[in-house]
Amino acid sequence: MKQQMLDHFAKVFGEADGAEVFFSPGRVNLIGEHTDYNGGHVFPCALTIGTYCAARKRADRKLRFYSVNFSGRGVIESSLDELRPDKAAGWTNYPKGMMWAFAQRGMKMDCGLDMVIFGNIPNGSGLSSSASVEVLTGAALRALYGFEVSNQDLALIGQYAENNFNGVNCGIMDQFAVAMGKKDNAIFLDTNTLQFEYAPVVLDGMKIVIACSNKKRGLADSKYNERRSECETALAELQKVCEIKALGDLTEEAFERYKGAIKSPVRLRRARHAVYENRRTVRAVEALKNNEIGRFGKLMNDSHVSLRDDYEVTGIELDTLVEAAWKIDGVVGSRITGAGFGGCTVSIVKEEAIDTFTAQVGKAYLEKIGYAADFYVVEIGGGPQKL
Ligand code: GLA
Repeated sequence: MKQQMLDHFAKVFGEADGAEVFFSPGRVNLIGEHTDYNGGHVFPCALTIGTYCAARKRADRKLRFYSVNFSGRGVIESSLDELRPDKAAGWTNYPKGMMWAFAQRGMKMDCGLDMVIFGNIPNGSGLSSSASVEVLTGAALRALYGFEVSNQDLALIGQYAENNFNGVNCGIMDQFAVAMGKKDNAIFLDTNTLQFEYAPVVLDGMKIVIACSNKKRGLADSKYNERRSECETALAELQKVCEIKALGDLTEEAFERYKGAIKSPVRLRRARHAVYENRRTVRAVEALKNNEIGRFGKLMNDSHVSLRDDYEVTGIELDTLVEAAWKIDGVVGSRITGAGFGGCTVSIVKEEAIDTFTAQVGKAYLEKIGYAADFYVVEIGGGPQKL
């Protein structure tokens, strides 16, 4: 892949002398959805698929970007003096957001760069292609400009860029999962304290299968921000009757005791999801550690139901994929993964059932939704690296 990226670079920018190549993964969340901005736990893992870039410093302040995936857009030019979000700049708002966020932390680039990027994460699928590009850019800036930042810093800077440059009020999960990924391990992260622990995912004779709905995630960002503010209002209501800093501080019992303080039934359901999903995530990690994979799968299924009925982020597309998966022998668990409103599901499937899974879930989806879903058998990979 290194040589391929250098070849792309040479094709776009003349020659590739002195260009360096980097990789950063995508991620899938196994359980713990919409808990990361509620002070709860998440359990994502990095994937072996992700984004690659070849990058080289320039002598002037120009920035030139080219994506192999969006080759029709050609080279997109900007400069270090124009680090502002700009709709017309498309995907380059992610690397530019990182450059801006580095500068906010006092790490100013003294010259521009040329960058060619290529990703093999299905586009817009909810497998964190944007966090992957952010962490990728951070890893490239660190190496090319000698900035001293840890991988955990890359995650925090990435989230800062996403929140303040790209206008999505996301939590820390995606950038953390991408920046801190470890082969064959998922990351059990307490988003309240950023304490985390790696948990080996030993799937004997089973695989992680992603089903991509191919639904365009039109209003996803605004609906995401709306869920977030519903949770913030519910938290403020609960804080009138109990001392908590985040919804993730509550056990189910405490929530049931205090929930009367939440004045709208919609907010009550949102908060209930946040509290129960957090507890479910803690239990799921326990189950995995005890090698109780069946219990882990059941908690994945419960997570989907809660995201469908209480949090209302699944939609007919993801519900169709998951409900078809639940009917198949050999499916240990299946749920929405990521923010929702389109995107993907994640399932744990026995190896001998994978063909049946893709055939039957694919058929049910096509019949009900009218266009095809895509399926990917994925592996858990490591964090960002220089190739
Ligand atoms: C998106 C956000 C994450 C997280 C998930 C939902 O992926 O970027 O921070 O909130 O949605 O769990």
